[in-house]
Amino acid sequence: MLEVDILAVVPELLEGPFSHSILHRAEEKGLLKVTVTDLRQFGHGRHKQIDDYAFGGGAGMVIQPQPLADAILQMRGDRAYDEVIYLTPDGKRFTQSDANQLSLKGRILMICGHYKGIDERIREKYVTREISIGDYVLSGGELAAAVVTDAIGRLIPGVLSDETSALTDSFQDNLLAPPVYTRPAEWEGMKVPDILLSGHQARIEQWRYEQALQRTKERRPDLLEEDE
Ligand code: ADE
Repeated sequence: MLEVDILAVVPELLEGPFSHSILHRAEEKGLLKVTVTDLRQFGHGRHKQIDDYAFGGGAGMVIQPQPLADAILQMRGDRAYDEVIYLTPDGKRFTQSDANQLSLKGRILMICGHYKGIDERIREKYVTREISIGDYVLSGGELAAAVVTDAIGRLIPGVLSDETSALTDSFQDNLLAPPVYTRPAEWEGMKVPDILLSGHQARIEQWRYEQALQRTKERRPDLLEEDE
C-alpha cells in the first residue's frame, strides 16, 4: 500500500486525474491512497494568505514557509514520510528509474509550488527530493504531481492487470518500446510484419528487441549512452 499526500495550491486541478484512471482502480483495490490537501487552509488572516513578495525585489510572489511547515507537520501526524518531494522546474528531471524507486516507498508527500516557488528554507528543512517533469514551466506543480503519481502508481504490484506489462514499457531497460499491432492482419493494404504471425516466440522476442534498439538509436540515442 502506497500513500501519496499532495499539498496543493489549486487542489481542483487534481480532481480529474485520480478519479478516472488506472489509479482509481488501484485505490479501489486498496493498493494506493491519494489524498489532496489545500495549502490555503494553512494560510493566515482573513484572506488565508500563503504568499508574499520576494525579498530583494523582482516580479512574482513566493509561498511563505509557515503555512507549508504547518501543513507538513499536520499531514505527517505521527507517521514519518519516506520522501518529501517538491515539484519544481529546477529539480532533477524525472525518469522511469525514479518512478521504479518511488513505487517501492510506503508514504510520500508531494508539495506543489506556484508563483515564483516556495521559500528556500522549506526546501532545506523538509524536502528530500526535487523533481522536474521536463524542461518547461507549468503554472503550478499540481499537474506535475499528477504525472509523477500516475507513473509511480501503475508500478505498484497488482495495479496493472497484466503484471508483466510494466516491465516491457519504454524506458524500463533504457530502450523505447517496439512497434505493436493488432487485428486485422492487413489494414488498408498495410500488413503486419510476418514474424509476428509466425508463432515462433523466441524469434518474435528477438525481432522486438532489434526494433526497440533501432527505434532508440534513431529517436533517442541519448538513452543508449545513459547509465542509470
Ligand atoms: N512546476 C512548474 N513547472 C514544473 C515542471 N516542469 N516540473 C515540475 N514541477 C513544475
